[in-house]
Amino acid sequence: MGLQRIGFIGAGKVGRALGMYLSEHGRTVNGYYSRSIHSAQSAAACIGATYYENLKDIANCSDVLFLTVPDRAIGPVWDQLVLLQERQEISLKGKTVLHCSGSLSSDIFSNLQESGAKGYSLHPILAVSDPDIAREQFPTCIFTLEGEAGEHRQALLDDLRQAGLTVAPISKEKKVRYHGACVMASNLVNALLAASQQMLSGCGLDEELCKRALTPLFLGNANAAATRGPMESLTGPIQRGDMVTVQKHVEELSKKEDDGDLLCIYNALSQYLLHKKGEKGNER
Ligand SMILES: NC(=O)c1ccc[n+]([C@@H]2O[C@H](COP(=O)([O-])OP(=O)(O)OC[C@H]3O[C@@H](n4cnc5c(N)ncnc54)[C@H](OP(=O)(O)O)[C@@H]3O)[C@@H](O)[C@H]2O)c1
Repeated sequence: MGLQRIGFIGAGKVGRALGMYLSEHGRTVNGYYSRSIHSAQSAAACIGATYYENLKDIANCSDVLFLTVPDRAIGPVWDQLVLLQERQEISLKGKTVLHCSGSLSSDIFSNLQESGAKGYSLHPILAVSDPDIAREQFPTCIFTLEGEAGEHRQALLDDLRQAGLTVAPISKEKKVRYHGACVMASNLVNALLAASQQMLSGCGLDEELCKRALTPLFLGNANAAATRGPMESLTGPIQRGDMVTVQKHVEELSKKEDDGDLLCIYNALSQYLLHKKGEKGNER
């Protein structure tokens, strides 16, 4: 199977980014359908594709359907497609359906086999807030593809790779753990930055200065950790074995009841770093 005659249901950030990317890489994107016609129109206009006013039309015109709707809408949209098939208004037989959720697997496509379609989850390990930026980042990010292994999935993998994407297969049993890992490296880092800003703002620096003060520290450290490795690039009291300073931080955060969450974060992450440092030491 090839990625041709593609329809996107959901003209949001990921649908737009993938649509632009795939059409720029020789795949035929037929068009978009979305909850609001305005979204479908503007996404379609970006790539000179069609916009559809209903699910039936986009399903009939596409061999590959991306359900790039929010996670909570994937199941209901799939159910609507199945209903249309039951009413003989569309046929899903031989079609490929994909969603892009990190945490959900292809199991969300209930009664997939009976429908005659092949279903997958294809997830870019990327925070997508601007479709134009994301489509340029796609060649350097990793995608995972989950769905029944076999000839069909292999052909899909090959075609995505030919389109310039790096795609790794993943099993459905691992998706929740996999998504948790992605959250750790992205969303939870936001919590750390917010916690640090909160602590710093209690030190007499104004809010704007706090943000500016932490930016080079945060970005420089993230860059070093990602390129050289989190333990290899570690600096600070735990790396130096300076437990007196660590204890002082703990005491400071224990003074105020309001700092309870900060203390929990500090303790949990410090313990984890000590453990990892111990492991590293034992390797030598
Ligand atoms: N953003 C990320 O960082 C990111 C990264 C990796 C994976 N993902 C995954 O990608 C998928 C899409 O996320 P997104 O960030 O692109 O979301 P989004 O920007 O909110 O876009 C979702 C789009 O779906 C449309 N929609 C909502 N309900 C619908 C329905 N019932 N029928 C048809 N269209 C509907 C929305 O409506 P309107 O027509 O009203 O605009 C919107 O255009 C999700 O599964 C998400 O987990 C997101």
